[in-house]
Amino acid sequence: TPGLWVSRLRNLTLLSLVDVPVLVSAPSIVISQMPHLLALTLSRANLSGPLPHHWHCLRLAHLDLSSNRLTGPVPTSIDLLASLRSIDLSSNSLSGPLPDSFGDLLALRNASLSNNSFSGPIPASFAALSALARLDLSSNQFNGSIPASLSELRGLRVLNLENNNFQGVIPFNASFVARLESFKVRGNANLCYNKTLLSPKLKLGVAPCDRYGLPLSPPPQRATRSDSSDYAEDGDGDDDDNGGGKGSDGGGRHGPNRLVLGVAIGLSCLVFLVIFLVCLSKVCR
Ligand SMILES: *[C@@H]1O[C@H](CO)[C@@H](O)[C@H](O)[C@H]1NC(C)=O
Ligand SMILES: *[C@@H]1O[C@H](CO)[C@@H](O)[C@H](O)[C@H]1NC(C)=O
Ligand SMILES: *[C@@H]1O[C@H](CO)[C@@H](O)[C@H](O)[C@H]1NC(C)=O
Ligand SMILES: *[C@@H]1O[C@H](CO)[C@@H](O)[C@H](O)[C@H]1NC(C)=O
Ligand SMILES: *[C@@H]1O[C@H](CO)[C@@H](O)[C@H](O)[C@H]1NC(C)=O
Ligand SMILES: *[C@@H]1O[C@H](CO)[C@@H](O)[C@H](O)[C@H]1NC(C)=O
Repeated sequence: TPGLWVSRLRNLTLLSLVDVPVLVSAPSIVISQMPHLLALTLSRANLSGPLPHHWHCLRLAHLDLSSNRLTGPVPTSIDLLASLRSIDLSSNSLSGPLPDSFGDLLALRNASLSNNSFSGPIPASFAALSALARLDLSSNQFNGSIPASLSELRGLRVLNLENNNFQGVIPFNASFVARLESFKVRGNANLCYNKTLLSPKLKLGVAPCDRYGLPLSPPPQRATRSDSSDYAEDGDGDDDDNGGGKGSDGGGRHGPNRLVLGVAIGLSCLVFLVIFLVCLSKVCR
């Protein structure tokens, strides 16, 4: 029963349990007696219950509690972990809005909160996370608009916001997006991009905005297609080929278009031929 004896190892600095079901419910029971921890990984360990409210390991630099069954919110007291450089809470059932105090984790470089049930906006305090290099908030129910202040994060390289409920205009310009290694925003039905700031060539998987900041056409339907292999051939570019997406039914791919054109030309030739023959027969009579 790892949970029970592990929690007695008071002087541990590094603890990593992966794929071992820990037979205690909440992570606080495992770590409450370990003030010297620098790195903690309890992943795929069948942990349940809430995140600790009282953190005893104040020097913790790496926290990975991914792929458990944790529930409830991120506690406001998360800011006690002022040395935290990476946090991975992905693939749990955590929920609620993120506390503003998250923005006090000034050493944070790598944060993944993906695949939970978090909601509410990205706190404005995130703009203070000046060391942040990777931020993954994908597959949650975050909403509100994306804060423009994220573009002040000079070190940001990876920003994944896909599969949420973000809305409004993406507040970034091309030079910010070009600086990122990876920028993902698809799967946000009410989000759109400003055509004068970002090119459709970026294939962001969201619709362009109308002048009121609302999506111009329904976002590309990708649900039934495989994830990335056909990424390049489908998407927003089609809207532009069809003149801004007006009246386009989303079927504006090049193959079918060419077929329709061919049939149309063929039919008109036939009609002309018939008229010509009718005229000819009248003249010759
Ligand atoms: C995970 O924990 C639940 C109770 O919280 C228990 O029923 C289940 O057997 C555990 N799974 C494993 C693989 O230990
Ligand atoms: C998301 O989390 C659930 C458990 O909450 C897990 O079963 C699933 O595999 C995760 N999905 C991904 C893509 O990691
Ligand atoms: C950042 O987090 C991601 C996802 O948890 C992980 O794959 C990556 O190795 C981490 N990078 C660093 C530098 O910690
Ligand atoms: C975001 O979602 C919450 C409920 O989860 C709702 O109360 C709030 O009004 C939403 N905010 C916006 C801007 O849509
Ligand atoms: C792009 O946005 C950044 C941050 O908002 C700003 O500093 C920069 O001047 C903008 N670049 C262009 C070309 O508009
Ligand atoms: C798009 O950006 C241009 C230039 O910054 C601005 O004038 C315009 O109002 C923006 N449109 C929307 C819908 O935000």
